[in-house]
Amino acid sequence: MTNSTRLIPIVKVPDPILRKVAEPVTEITDGIRQILDEMAATMYDAPGIGLAGPQVKVSKRLVVIDCSKDETHDLYKMINPKIIRSSNKRSVLEEGCLSIPDHTAEVERPAEVEIQYLDETGCSKKILADGLFAACVQHEIDHLNGILFIDHISRLKKDMIMRKMIKNYRQAEKQG
Ligand code: NI
Repeated sequence: MTNSTRLIPIVKVPDPILRKVAEPVTEITDGIRQILDEMAATMYDAPGIGLAGPQVKVSKRLVVIDCSKDETHDLYKMINPKIIRSSNKRSVLEEGCLSIPDHTAEVERPAEVEIQYLDETGCSKKILADGLFAACVQHEIDHLNGILFIDHISRLKKDMIMRKMIKNYRQAEKQG
């Protein structure tokens, strides 16, 4: 990744692209690798720990994740990721989303998941995720299926967040 890597605007709720099921990537081209680099740069700039294609108006099954807590980067670029196994054990973590800024909520999900994906060279990878990484990867794969973290919380809290987001969206539209 170079310093000249382009940053992409992140779309926010209620943009309808966030509710579309993203298309699988059928060929890993330089264009796909470039989008992944731009997504990573955009995620670090935000800053965030994960970003999915639909959040940058790319309705393809692409995800970038870096849950490392210190200065060392631990970047995953995932193409067509899927969960192949989920633990019965569940855990609750506070989640936020770059497409729903200024709102967080506790979300319950399987505590451990096994994921399969293609890396940017087309190699099939399988990894076991737990803790924050497990929550993050499930959150990002949800994005590929048009699902947001607010779909996992109480109706009351979801409606409250949606009302505020729609109000902000209308104000931004008015301001052009
Ligand atoms: Ni998100």
